[in-house]
Amino acid sequence: MRKIKIFDTTLRDGEQSPGCSMHITEKLEIAMALEKMHVDVIEAGFAVSSQGDFDAVSKVAAQLKESTVCSLARAVPKDIDMAYEALKHAQSPRIHTFMATSPIHMEYKLKMAPEKVLQTIGDMVRYAKTKMSDIEFSAEDACRSERDFLVKATATAIAAGATVINIPDTVGYTTPMEMVDLITYLRNHVRGIENVILSVHCHNDLGMAAANSLAAVSAGADQVECTINGLGERAGNAAMEEIVMGIHTRKNFYQCLTGVDTTRISSTSKLVYNILGLPIPINKAIVGANAFAHEAGIHQHGVLANRETYEIMTPQSIGLLQNQMVFGKHSGRHAIEKRLNEMGHELNKAELDDLMERFKLLADKKRSINDNDLEALVSKKTQDIENGYKLDRFTVNCGNYVTSNAVVRLQDGEKLVEAVAIGDGPIDAAYKAIDMLIKAPPHVLDDYAIFSVTEGNDALGEVIVRIKSGEKTVTGRGLSTDIIESSIMAYINGLNRLL
Ligand code: KIV
Ligand code: ZN
Repeated sequence: MRKIKIFDTTLRDGEQSPGCSMHITEKLEIAMALEKMHVDVIEAGFAVSSQGDFDAVSKVAAQLKESTVCSLARAVPKDIDMAYEALKHAQSPRIHTFMATSPIHMEYKLKMAPEKVLQTIGDMVRYAKTKMSDIEFSAEDACRSERDFLVKATATAIAAGATVINIPDTVGYTTPMEMVDLITYLRNHVRGIENVILSVHCHNDLGMAAANSLAAVSAGADQVECTINGLGERAGNAAMEEIVMGIHTRKNFYQCLTGVDTTRISSTSKLVYNILGLPIPINKAIVGANAFAHEAGIHQHGVLANRETYEIMTPQSIGLLQNQMVFGKHSGRHAIEKRLNEMGHELNKAELDDLMERFKLLADKKRSINDNDLEALVSKKTQDIENGYKLDRFTVNCGNYVTSNAVVRLQDGEKLVEAVAIGDGPIDAAYKAIDMLIKAPPHVLDDYAIFSVTEGNDALGEVIVRIKSGEKTVTGRGLSTDIIESSIMAYINGLNRLL
């Protein structure tokens, strides 16, 4: 069967979604999880866009051994130089250069005549080729480009040495039938197309990114660009879990497969949601909590008689464990480590020591600890910002006849700093006290949400806050059995990220 290459752009296009910026250590953690899944290509960033992106691409490039690592670059020498500098230590590097080919982008964004666009594509692909052999060219807004011009642009890139031609549906405008038609047309009309990898990159503005990508595969595309959980600009990109499970579940229809280890889908999806502080939509295809849940009596009856009446994939195929395990105060380190491994988490000694410390504290407050609690404890390690402010202690006083007030003490490196404030409720008072202590840039609390991680009175409560400062939006997360404490921790976490 044909093997479809999976190109993940969570760290580049995914990071371009508002509020989804990541730290370099978080990017590295995601890149390593993607490599463990056997993703073929990882787009680690846009090296020229900032020092942070450059450092992230360099670090990912130096660390990964199996996956190809690539950096985005506009079709200008400076971008290509920076991409090369960031990628030069990679085992398998790729420069991904792009230029818009649609009339609207050429006229209003590039302000360039079509002939000049063709010349630049040729020149810049040739220039990139002097740096390394693997060069991808993307014709931005390809699906709204004139066909003849798209044929010329892609043929020019191939003649200049491109090894991969990517067809982006940049604004999520196309339909599956149009996509089949376009890919077939390009395969029949572009000189040299049979010698390169033909790729697609679909956005989800009309909710059709996965359908359009799979349609391209059925018409002969060899690579699909996608992101974990469908993150990305505006409504996002095609979700990797949907593409991979679509091909896996319907391999007889598509007559192809991917090299991705599907049993790592669930843990990688959770890792990305946790790092970004985003709640998992319960009805998200493949990875939402309801994706394998059956509530209606008729469905439950059917599944009990034969699972395949209502399930087209097994929970195990994406790495979900069927039997829930329950732990308590007396559970040992070995058993917990084994369960974490089964759940797809490999922790080093220091991480396990830290998790065990938090496990014991939680076990003192909560009678039984299940897989969701363990997942939450693992995700907590991704929240703490090294060298950031940490909560030391707090007191709140509130009621319907008193003015709420809070005393908050934070650890700032070696020092302890304390403030007291009154507010409109205990959380507002605590947040005002924290604002006196953390000297963050001017900001507003844009959103506050609270979720229960598990069931019962002693459930872990997770708070997610969104903080806006000018153009920048950050999220902060906090987790505790006490919701005031999780609220305080989330705000400190968000401000640390802002700093
Ligand atoms: O959506 C798009 O067109 C892109 C390109 C840069 C590949 O992200
Ligand atoms: Zn994109």
